[in-house]
Amino acid sequence: MTLRTRITLLTLALLAFSLLLIGGSVYGSLQFTLYENLRRELAETSLSAQQLIRERGDLSGLPLTIYGQALWVPFPNPTAGDILQGAAIPFAQSLALGNASLTLSERGLQEVLRSGGVYTQTILIRPDGSHVPLRVRAERLETEIAGIPQGKQLVILLIGKSTENIESTLADFARTYTATAVLVLIFGGLLAFRLVRQTLEPLEWVARKAEQVSDKPERLPEPEGRDEVASLVRSLNRMLARLESAWETQGRFLADASHELRTPVTAILGHISYLLRRTPVSEQQRESLEIIKREAERMQKLVGDLLELSKTGGSWKVQLGAVHLPTVLNEIVEEYSKSFEGQLSLEAPESLWVLGDPERLHQVFANLVSNAIKARASQVRLVALDLAERVVVRVEDNGEGIPKEHLPHLFERFYRVDKARDRERGGSGLGLAIVRSIVEAHGGTVWVESEPGQGSVFSLSLKKAQAPHPQLV
Ligand SMILES: Nc1ncnc2c1ncn2[C@@H]1O[C@H](COP(=O)(O)OP(=O)(O)OP(=O)(O)O)[C@@H](O)[C@H]1O
Ligand SMILES: [Mg+2]
Repeated sequence: MTLRTRITLLTLALLAFSLLLIGGSVYGSLQFTLYENLRRELAETSLSAQQLIRERGDLSGLPLTIYGQALWVPFPNPTAGDILQGAAIPFAQSLALGNASLTLSERGLQEVLRSGGVYTQTILIRPDGSHVPLRVRAERLETEIAGIPQGKQLVILLIGKSTENIESTLADFARTYTATAVLVLIFGGLLAFRLVRQTLEPLEWVARKAEQVSDKPERLPEPEGRDEVASLVRSLNRMLARLESAWETQGRFLADASHELRTPVTAILGHISYLLRRTPVSEQQRESLEIIKREAERMQKLVGDLLELSKTGGSWKVQLGAVHLPTVLNEIVEEYSKSFEGQLSLEAPESLWVLGDPERLHQVFANLVSNAIKARASQVRLVALDLAERVVVRVEDNGEGIPKEHLPHLFERFYRVDKARDRERGGSGLGLAIVRSIVEAHGGTVWVESEPGQGSVFSLSLKKAQAPHPQLV
């Protein structure tokens, strides 16, 4: 998962959590306020109902939204069971209640008798079968009843009001809030995604620039300001400066060491040649001298290659000009045909010009062809393809091929597939590293495809050039 997606998802999760928290607390406090107001209204209505009982003995004077009922209990200290079994006589009820009646559960009744008053929730079933959810205040009163002269009586007064309005207000709120929250989440998500992208853009830019840093490190342009990205770029630039100086030191060391080694190796070779040609040596001595000569020649090639490679630190001097590619490739074919026992062929359009340095290109193809020959190929083909802007040259062989796991490392310095075998064949593992650095100095690329047992194809692309004298071609 990308950093951008992760930050967006995290923002969305935080937003969703906050919306849930806000929605929950607003819903809770709205519910509390609405029910608290209802309780207060029921308490006030209960007082008017008591007055109506005292003065008129009925509850028909209550507002039409109030469900009220009064029960007269003509016994002292009744139990809830007594009341449920008919010990209470309903003597007054509000107009809203009509023929229906309010009932309390046994536990509710017990609570009323014990504590004097209780709020409860009940459902009234109207004669037409519809259900009305009610909030009911039940009270135990000692009061006079108009029309009953024996003084104070025990009365159970039930005053209720429908909670339909409150519930529908709450449901409306929940619906509206949920719809708004979903919209906020969608827009919030889009906005977060955009903002995160905008914020991360400079970082991606730094990553792209850092990706482009190749062998020769260039400083990244430092952005304005003092934010985290600017300080990251400054750190990267400091690191690049250190890398550059390390590269330079390494290159200088390689150049100095190989340069210093060249003179003694040349001297050794000169003296061996002298000994072999001008002095009487025994057969055994000759054999040893021949071995020393072979090894010294190998060392001379190695030192030469190292010196070449030390130039890759930026000082490759390629003299780019229009080069007639078939000529260079023909030279290679002629050069190797003499010693190569297999078949070396060339396929190239006659008028093919590339931008390059003929000496260096010769070196590249010589390296590739000698590798193919060393890989025991019996057929080597040089194929030049004329593409729109570029020219691709393929060096195909039917030699041993290269196992897959070695392919990514082949162009590294001193990399050999089979150290013992390749050393035996006189290789030091620098040839392909030189090939790559020369091709890159030409602004081209080189790549390899290979199948063990079938052969290998080394391809390189070069920039095409105009023929310098079109009329002569
Ligand atoms: N055409 C090929 N077929 C099979 N293996 C190859 C081929 N070209 C290169 N290789 C393998 O890649 C290795 C690296 O090649 P490279 O040219 O860099 O070094 P080298 O030929 O061993 O030594 P040098 O070129 O310095 O004399 C070789 O040792 C060889 O094992
Ligand atoms: Mg080689």
